[in-house]
Amino acid sequence: MGSLENKTMVLSLLLAMFGLFPDKISAEFRRFEQNIGGDGTLRFLVVGDWGRNGDYNQSEVASQMGRIGEELDIHFVVSTGDNFYDNGLKGEDDPNFLNSFTNIYTATSLQKQWFSVLGNHDYRGDALAQLSPVLRKIDRRWLCLRSFVVNTEIAELFFVDTTPFVRDYFVNPEDHIYDWRNVIPTKRYTFSVLKDLESALEKSRARWKIVVGHHAIRSVGHHGDTPELVQSLLPILRAHNVDLYMNGHDHCLEQISDTKSPIQFFTSGAGSKAWRGDVKDLNGNDLKFFYDGQGFMSVRLTQSEAEIRFYDVFGRVIHSWSMSKMLHADI
Ligand SMILES: *[C@@H]1O[C@H](CO)[C@@H](O)[C@H](O)[C@H]1NC(C)=O
Repeated sequence: MGSLENKTMVLSLLLAMFGLFPDKISAEFRRFEQNIGGDGTLRFLVVGDWGRNGDYNQSEVASQMGRIGEELDIHFVVSTGDNFYDNGLKGEDDPNFLNSFTNIYTATSLQKQWFSVLGNHDYRGDALAQLSPVLRKIDRRWLCLRSFVVNTEIAELFFVDTTPFVRDYFVNPEDHIYDWRNVIPTKRYTFSVLKDLESALEKSRARWKIVVGHHAIRSVGHHGDTPELVQSLLPILRAHNVDLYMNGHDHCLEQISDTKSPIQFFTSGAGSKAWRGDVKDLNGNDLKFFYDGQGFMSVRLTQSEAEIRFYDVFGRVIHSWSMSKMLHADI
């Protein structure tokens, strides 16, 4: 353990003794290194809102993910949350884990690391179960944490736990019970998430900065924009030159361009039940694409190019978007 870490621990212990920070000084996001090797391109799939025992085309989407995953030779899969319906997992031994994950995404190309965040439906069950290392023993691919960083040679992905930001779940929980263990008081929790994200973004030297959360910042789907994230998260992304924000929550595929920065918002929340049939007003949003049915997304990044594609349930490309970033040497 480094001496800096030692000093931080001593300091937090002292502060804890004075009752200033009962838990800890906001901890850094856990970091994971992912080597991409080969030709230096990073390739991964993004799917959200999926775990329904294969129903509502989940299995069809899974099999097309397998095919495209093989074609692209992906490094990993990103899950944007709402991993298990309707109410998350009941515990570490909930058969839904096998029935909706392990036994559904069976293709060889999908036997890679899955980096997942929690969605609001996951909070309706035993949220800690999904975070538990026990699940990683059952299926090595599984890695779900609240907030964390995945570092690759050319891109850094920052995963953010967005559910505790949304006031409605606290004020109007309807008939749902949420598992808020370890995230209340939420003001303090969300404050520390934002602080940790800021400090991770500040340190980042990555060519591409990608932030992943469950809730949309911008969306014209059923739920629309998430005002809490527009207010508190978006300014941080703009200030730190984040390139892409990816989310689920709305059961659709969509792309919206930020009007005040180069940020692109991608919703990939179409892993199973879709076809809500309600689209909101554009509300000033610069909508590039919207599809109400099932599907998923692929991301391919080189030092200078980003290419994103959406696929439907038949694996057909229904939208693609690309951009170039000049290398300094080119200018
Ligand atoms: C499955 O996908 C097909 C093709 O998009 C669609 O017509 C059908 O309604 C979907 N089924 C469900 C249950 O959503």
